[in-house]
Amino acid sequence: MDTPFYYYDMRLLDRTLAAVMSAALTDSRFRVHYAVKANADKEILETISRAGLGADCVSGWEIEAAVSAGFPAEKIVFAGVGKTDREIELALKARIGCFNVESMQELEVIGTIASDLGVTAPVALRVNPNIDAHTHEYITTGLSENKFGINLDQLPAHVKAAVSMPGISLEGLHFHIGSQITESEPFEMLCETINRIQEEYLSLGITFRNINVGGGLGIDYADPSGHPIPDFDRYFSVFRNKLKAYPGQKVHFELGRSIVAQCGSLITRVLYIKEGTVKRFAIVDAGMTDLIRPALYNAYHKIEKADADLKPAHVDSDTLTQSYDVVGPICESSDCFARDVRLPVLKRGDLLMIRSAGAYGRVMASQYNLRPIPRGVYCGN
Ligand code: LLP
Repeated sequence: MDTPFYYYDMRLLDRTLAAVMSAALTDSRFRVHYAVKANADKEILETISRAGLGADCVSGWEIEAAVSAGFPAEKIVFAGVGKTDREIELALKARIGCFNVESMQELEVIGTIASDLGVTAPVALRVNPNIDAHTHEYITTGLSENKFGINLDQLPAHVKAAVSMPGISLEGLHFHIGSQITESEPFEMLCETINRIQEEYLSLGITFRNINVGGGLGIDYADPSGHPIPDFDRYFSVFRNKLKAYPGQKVHFELGRSIVAQCGSLITRVLYIKEGTVKRFAIVDAGMTDLIRPALYNAYHKIEKADADLKPAHVDSDTLTQSYDVVGPICESSDCFARDVRLPVLKRGDLLMIRSAGAYGRVMASQYNLRPIPRGVYCGN
């Protein structure tokens, strides 16, 4: 077995998709999109599009990947603070469902390109609701000092411009407050903010056909086997109960991590055990180039010894364990997957699985040191 590689449990992905779709069915307003940035592997995209989700894309390349994986263009939304003219043109020609627009100048450029092409661009304005999602500073997005979205005090000018601009059809408002959010409270606050904004506009005679609440639902990195599927029922019930309904309005979601994280593991082999004076290192053949989250965000991923059929090896109170720093081969001190983790006694050649790596894993891999991007292995369908 050539290591490292990403191993995907496609049955778990199917079960996760069934759970998300059935939880979303509880409210006829709800439309679920998958945030392609979390994992854009063809096999994963095709499975997700078959389950009936739309796609949330942040580049022209993602739009092309989504279309070729079978997502209908009208179910594709296009977000991002820095869309290029080429990407805008590509999206307009593909007739995607909505552009999530983040600045006045972007609005003008989209309007001009659409007019030149003789089409109208469906647009949602991305609002920065100034909500602290209590998550990692690199992945929080809803605060005023962020580069994302339009601040609340600047929203009226943008709405006014969007309504009057040729080439633009204002369809709705878009929000996204951050990622890996494990409590309901930030989402409840988001609903309250959206309700308040909608009431203000209602008094001006403006209603929005679409509200997009973004993504952000977190997963259990500590116990992936215990909680393989996030609590989608609890998540959607927040919006069902707290987000005020307007006639005919659709509510869109853009879930990434919660759909794909738990079905993927990075499989790596122990190259050497190195007994330092203070520490014992398990040097493995995967590095930060293959999974950058621990190095970049100090993120925790559970590491387990794998048995031959790539399941976590059985561990009980009789299993002899030792403490290891699990490190990669890259010449950077941050190339470390975990410090002082207790694992069954390891030897050269053993396989480890780095869990919950299906989201923001392979897509964020780099070729630093001329290392190849690890392949994906898709099992179970
Ligand atoms: N919608 C928008 C506008 C977003 O910016 C994102 C993620 C999502 C949806 C999907 O969020 P999710 O449901 O996956 O939380 N690389 C980081 C995560 C960056 C997330 C960026 N935006 C990580 O590895 O944790």
